[in-house]
Amino acid sequence: KIETGGIELAAEELEILNEAKTPPFEIGEKDKINEELRMEYRYLDLRDPKMQKNLMKRSEVLRFLNNYFKGNGFIEIETPDLTKGTPEGAREFVVPSRKHPGNFYVLPQSPQQFKQLLMVAGLERYFQIARCFRDEDSRGDRQPEFTQLDVEMSFVEEEDVLDLIEETMIKLVETIFPEKKISQKPFPRLDYDETMVKYNSDKPDLREDKNNSDELAFAWVLNMPLLEYSETEKKWVSSHHPFTSPKDTDPKSLDTDKLGEVKAKAYDLVLNGYEIGGGSIRIHKRELQNKMFEILGVEPKDIEARFGHMLKAFEYGAPPHGGIALGLDRLMMILMNETSIREVMAFPKTGDDRDLLMGAPSEISKKQRKELHI
Ligand code: AMO
Repeated sequence: KIETGGIELAAEELEILNEAKTPPFEIGEKDKINEELRMEYRYLDLRDPKMQKNLMKRSEVLRFLNNYFKGNGFIEIETPDLTKGTPEGAREFVVPSRKHPGNFYVLPQSPQQFKQLLMVAGLERYFQIARCFRDEDSRGDRQPEFTQLDVEMSFVEEEDVLDLIEETMIKLVETIFPEKKISQKPFPRLDYDETMVKYNSDKPDLREDKNNSDELAFAWVLNMPLLEYSETEKKWVSSHHPFTSPKDTDPKSLDTDKLGEVKAKAYDLVLNGYEIGGGSIRIHKRELQNKMFEILGVEPKDIEARFGHMLKAFEYGAPPHGGIALGLDRLMMILMNETSIREVMAFPKTGDDRDLLMGAPSEISKKQRKELHI
């Protein structure tokens, strides 16, 4: 009957299960602690109730998405991590093969090619909570290893993908974050060129009050260019990725000297000034896909070596298909009112891609090097 409502116990015996040192920082004050120290002692840092809440909410979101997609007829399919390069615009992490001297696996930048091949297989509605790997400069909203909600569907057009994702986001917020308010439903649909002129950004923050983290201003950015001219590489590069379909799917539509004006069947989902997702309707015919690689300056023998499997698959009745991937870490960062995705990941890497807890990357033994032919 004590005031706090707790119980008082009179101990007869006390057994110490393990001794505990004083932690190197005050737990529960994460914003005041040097981040490198937090990373080195992540297992102590994660004792902070705020960090625990972030991870618990993340788990709730994963469960919601899993139930939602399965409930809507999608099949969860895992795709490999040891694979071949996927062109998503970043550098790749490679893994040397012991059994095949001088050969390497590449870690996927996304499951893009596999999910398209699943459409050829007749698995018409795919989703996966997928791990992706990109060797690019890290920053607050980027990590070398991150998670996507990855989706692909057959026999769809842009509208179908937008509707599905919009409904998913609205239900997710209503169910798990009822305190948040979505600024505009249905989500506004912005034209890429107009957005660039009006906001000088392709991911504008459309909140009425830019400091209000309980306001969620989702928007779609549409009508993006298919290609952009890279002054550094002196060639055309894909705005999204090379599997994206042009609006006009006749291969002749690409016989133009104004390639920069060709629009893509692509869409980005932006939220409070961040790009949280992107996708497109894909090319599903060999001729058009081959033409796209030619425009991107891939030599014919390289087209065969790098993408022959995709071109071949398109010859076996590939259905029209399209999809999207959402950056789950970014979405969680915004929903949890954080400013870095490191706060919503259990074991993130530093800005220069080190894992201070495990001590990675690290050297490997001479023996291992030899076995791996490096
Ligand atoms: P894209 O490259 O646009 O598309 O990636 C989709 C979303 O993933 C998130 N993202 C990242 N999050 C954290 N760290 C990173 N380094 C990082 N890079 C990307 C972003 C981005 O919007 N295969 C296509 C999707 C498709 O066409 O279906 C793809 O990966 O939120």
